[in-house]
Amino acid sequence: MENILVLDFGGQYNQLIARRVRECQVYCEVHSSDMPIDEIKKMAPKGIILTGGPNSVYDPASPHADQELFSIGVPILGICYGAQILAYQLGGKVSTAPVSEYGKTETVVDTDIPLFHGWAERSVAWMSHTDYIEKAPEGFTVTGHTSNCPVAAMQDESKGFYAVQFHPEVVHTDEGMKLFRTFVYDICGCKGDWQMGSFIETTVASLREKIGSGKVLLGLSGGVDSSVAAALLSKAVGRQLTCVFVDHGLLRKNEGDEVEAVFGQGGQFDLNFVRVDAAEYFYEKLAGVTEPEQKRKIIGAEFINVFEKEAEKIGEVDFLAQGTIYPDVIESGLGKSATIKSHHNVGGLPEHVNFKEIVEPLRMLFKDEVRQVGLQLGIPEKLVYRQPFPGPGLGIRIIGDITSEKVRIVQDADAIYREEIDKAAEDWKESHNMENPSWMPSQYYAALTNLRSVGVMGDGRTYDYAVALRAVITSDFMTATAAPIPWDILTRAADRIVNEVSGVNRVFYDCTSKPPATIELE
Ligand code: XMP
Repeated sequence: MENILVLDFGGQYNQLIARRVRECQVYCEVHSSDMPIDEIKKMAPKGIILTGGPNSVYDPASPHADQELFSIGVPILGICYGAQILAYQLGGKVSTAPVSEYGKTETVVDTDIPLFHGWAERSVAWMSHTDYIEKAPEGFTVTGHTSNCPVAAMQDESKGFYAVQFHPEVVHTDEGMKLFRTFVYDICGCKGDWQMGSFIETTVASLREKIGSGKVLLGLSGGVDSSVAAALLSKAVGRQLTCVFVDHGLLRKNEGDEVEAVFGQGGQFDLNFVRVDAAEYFYEKLAGVTEPEQKRKIIGAEFINVFEKEAEKIGEVDFLAQGTIYPDVIESGLGKSATIKSHHNVGGLPEHVNFKEIVEPLRMLFKDEVRQVGLQLGIPEKLVYRQPFPGPGLGIRIIGDITSEKVRIVQDADAIYREEIDKAAEDWKESHNMENPSWMPSQYYAALTNLRSVGVMGDGRTYDYAVALRAVITSDFMTATAAPIPWDILTRAADRIVNEVSGVNRVFYDCTSKPPATIELE
């Protein structure tokens, strides 16, 4: 299969480069910049991309490319630090820029050359550099500049060397995607023979090779990532895989049964599925605990405890699988720590489970790519598009102490609220023939305040709980605004909740942003 090799010099956006290549339907792998030249030749890439990175090429300790890379006859695209590598190692000059550029920058390019085919002469490109190419190497022509960067792009077409100081992989570069298409199709001669289906095939093949006849254990949370990992592993090694699903009694209404219907006996996947119904155990451990951090810690620690007990029953396993995806890798910092990032969602890596190695088949993918893989593997849409749900579950959506009665209240209220929002969104999409209404939240749920107040129902006085409805719009979950849910939807949900959920006589809507509030209540 044709492939593009991305050599990683430590930049922030390196997997994004790989993703852009995959969007062109071309297979792509990211390897460290010190990948031995013989291995590179063995891979036979159609093209090589050198990524950005935080170093200065003239610092002797900084990573460089093997000089032989420039004579193997494969087109090379250098991006940012990668562009400077090309300049420096081929005899040009790189130095500290008098003015460093950061952010959206008007860039002028030579639209007559193939790399910038179809570009506007002036467009916005994303810059992030303190060094710059002062002088292009011999044989190169300068093909782009900005007001502060004389060599924003250069090429030696005869050798197939192309360099851009800006980052075509980020969305802020207007014409970025065009550049990738031109590079992989016109310059490298790729045909675009790769699809997410091929990711599944190659991953299944490499999982089989790695796992052999070994046993694999996976903690299935019911979330998208661990579900997709389970489906992939089941395709690769079938019943060598055991999925342990710990139901801590703090899941949304019917969620445990939904997960079991997909992955348990009679479901569509061939794997060993163990569901541990530990609700009572968790309620007992949490009885009377009101402090949020303590609740989180108890849920996390007990989750691992229960998981480990099940693992012990299975005995020694060869591989512990995790649904780690690329954003988790970034969040936990690149490098060694990344490989042990727990994707348990709740606790951490189990310490007492005997396993030899970790497998993380989704490590290269972004969330939407994981969803595509999930759909192709036959996981129901409802599960694939599930909104994020915190590991400690409803435990942090019930203010104060947790009881089975409060869990029941919040589960019922939450199911009604989500149903009303989903229904209204569907109606809106149908009547407007559009993707989503502007009020569509990224995450929405009902929580139980620990507050009781007086109400009247029929002719009698009530003294019941107040439910809080939350809905936020966010792209990164670090900051968020309260979603402007139309009033009729809110009041319909509120009416249904007080009528249908016993123990509730009042409903609040949370209008706060994050910051100063957080998305979850605890
Ligand atoms: P906060 O409440 O911090 O939430 O604004 C931000 C996002 O993270 C989710 N969240 C968690 N996810 N384990 C998780 O896997 C947790 O302990 C946890 N706490 C919060 C929350 O649902 C929101 O999407």
